[in-house]
Amino acid sequence: MFTLTDKKAVVTGAGRGIGQAIALTFAKAGAKVAVVSRTEANAAKAAREINALYPGAAIAYAVDVSQGPAVAELGKQVLADFGTIDILVNNAGLTRDGLTLRMSEEDWDAVLDTNLKGAFHMLKAFQRTLLKQKGARIINIASVIGLIGNAGQANYAASKAGLIGLTKSLAREFAGRGLTVNAIAPGFVTSDMTDVLSDEVKTAIQAKIPLGSMGTVDDIAAAALFLASAEARYITGQVLVVDGGMVM
Ligand SMILES: NC(=O)c1ccc[n+]([C@@H]2O[C@H](COP(=O)([O-])OP(=O)(O)OC[C@H]3O[C@@H](n4cnc5c(N)ncnc54)[C@H](O)[C@@H]3O)[C@@H](O)[C@H]2O)c1
Repeated sequence: MFTLTDKKAVVTGAGRGIGQAIALTFAKAGAKVAVVSRTEANAAKAAREINALYPGAAIAYAVDVSQGPAVAELGKQVLADFGTIDILVNNAGLTRDGLTLRMSEEDWDAVLDTNLKGAFHMLKAFQRTLLKQKGARIINIASVIGLIGNAGQANYAASKAGLIGLTKSLAREFAGRGLTVNAIAPGFVTSDMTDVLSDEVKTAIQAKIPLGSMGTVDDIAAAALFLASAEARYITGQVLVVDGGMVM
């Protein structure tokens, strides 16, 4: 139903998990995708898998989004290859969990620098081209933890709440130019990020989900496709919660 024919997208953290599913879904919908990951190997593998199904749809890039100058260089390279960009998905993210009493400044900075500042760096690299394109989109992958907080995840919750604040501010700044900015707040999704949780924790989480199971990466990719589509043109500054009803 939703198509992205002739659209060009950049997806960070696209080497695996939710980001890879978003990149693949966008390619399936007709977009060309810059598959950005921290490691060259993951980016290349994800792009290869996409190109096997949709030839020529993906190009791989490696960058650490927390590094401003490197992201600026990536921006130049992507624009040299793609010409313009219509959709930016800030999905790269990490956790460094621990109770705040024991949390190191390093763990605080690592999470904030990737999850929040990384989105700012990507915005700086692509804002000009996005503002020039008709009906462009920024989609930030936040988390329900940014809405409700979580013991042991103060750094992560702060980064995702910050990303939601950034989303709403950008939505207001760019609305006059037809560029929409929205966030998706996934609940618990099966991926490498949640694979580290013990079975006991997973069972406890599942008990709190009205729909009864953890989400899949495709559940999040479907929401991203909708927000990226022409049909979502009148939606901006919103947080789309995709969590099986956990937070309502
Ligand atoms: N899995 C969940 O339950 C869940 C829930 C809510 C939100 N999220 C968010 O969804 C996003 C994707 O998570 P996932 O579950 O696919 O996890 P994942 O760990 O499988 O994937 C995260 C991706 O981000 C990349 N990344 C991390 N730091 C980076 C950096 N500095 N520069 C560039 N890339 C970097 C990783 O290499 C990886 O490809 C994250 O922002 C995460 O916070 C996940």
